Amino acid sequence: MKNKFREKICFEYLKNCNFEKKLENFYKKKTILITGGAGAIGSNLAISLSKLVGKRGKIIVLDNLSAIRDEEPWNLPSLENMIFVKGDIRNDKDLKRVFKERPEIIFHLAAFFANQNSVDYPENSASVDVLGQIKLLEYAALTNVERFVYASSGCAIYGSYPKLPLVEDFISMHLTTPYQINKMTGEMYCNFYNHHYGLKTVNCRFFNSYGPGEVPGQYRNVIPNFLFWSRNGQHLPITGDGKETRDFTFCLDLVQGLIRSGFYEKAIGENFNLASGKETSIIKMAKLVKKVTNNNKDFLYKPRRKWDTKPRLLASIKKAEKLIGYKPFFDFEEGFNLTLEWFEVFEDEISKSTDFPPGMSSAVRD
Ligand SMILES: NC(=O)c1ccc[n+]([C@@H]2O[C@H](COP(=O)([O-])OP(=O)(O)OC[C@H]3O[C@@H](n4cnc5c(N)ncnc54)[C@H](O)[C@@H]3O)[C@@H](O)[C@H]2O)c1
Repeated sequence: MKNKFREKICFEYLKNCNFEKKLENFYKKKTILITGGAGAIGSNLAISLSKLVGKRGKIIVLDNLSAIRDEEPWNLPSLENMIFVKGDIRNDKDLKRVFKERPEIIFHLAAFFANQNSVDYPENSASVDVLGQIKLLEYAALTNVERFVYASSGCAIYGSYPKLPLVEDFISMHLTTPYQINKMTGEMYCNFYNHHYGLKTVNCRFFNSYGPGEVPGQYRNVIPNFLFWSRNGQHLPITGDGKETRDFTFCLDLVQGLIRSGFYEKAIGENFNLASGKETSIIKMAKLVKKVTNNNKDFLYKPRRKWDTKPRLLASIKKAEKLIGYKPFFDFEEGFNLTLEWFEVFEDEISKSTDFPPGMSSAVRD
């Protein structure tokens, strides 16, 4: 019953997308590899694509489960046309296993997530996000896959104080974490494989994802962590003054953008933002969290983390709209309510997988 919750949300969302028939026919019977497919965004993508490829298609998920710290991919329902391979994108044996299935399209979402984690473990960040990606691109080029869609990051491209809304042709070399550097490098490697080998790559720049499937934890995003702490009656830490803004994007809007990127020819060799195109302040989000969880505790104000040099984030989504017809559907409160519902349904699994070592939370550490 629990797993049907995820399927229901994904399948209903797909219906609202009104994809053109050509796109639906394109995906039918396809074999698709999703790296990081047990993760927050990847699990939603895997469930959605399993519907689009149908019974005669196949979804292969390659994930080492490092994000949910569990032996079982409980974040991913077991579906008839889905193969889960617990493995690492840096490991040839695991790559040979998944490439044996002859994937036609690859969505590359596996990553060493995210900023603070990469500050703490810079070599691991480069190992997964640079060397792992090169290995995957090599296999993709050698096996002539039809499309390689890469989950890049808006925070990795635009630097600290650019003009808003962020448009794709602005790029900053002043990045503040190894994660940002490595995600940007990932885009450059996609461009190289596109140019040199003709691999049909697409760079999708995600902004501040949230939604069902994101397990809170030491290195996770602010929304799941706030929900988790607030449900436990804890003070919420605000790093900064709370007026900071983010372009919070519902995970299924990102999934929509990915699905479109795997199909439209105009996306090949391109990079574009996938975001909500709206700004939400941290304080507004935090007040909402406190309200829905009946938490009366005061906020704990802390200085911003050294690497957090982005007081506001707002993406232009015009390019994605023009090239692939991307249009986000979820406003913040709607997506937030679904996230809260997921927290309630999966309460046991979430508490088992959530790990905040004492004094180590990236949200509160200086
Ligand atoms: N969540 C966001 O706000 C956001 C924003 C911008 C970009 N992105 C990018 O989108 C992608 C997905 O993000 P997410 O939030 O779903 O992250 P996530 O951590 O939930 O998912 C990534 C998955 O990759 C797996 N993984 C990590 N290292 C691996 C390895 N070496 N081999 C195989 N699997 C491995 C993890 O176990 C995890 O399940 C990432 O590439 C991330 O950099 C995310």
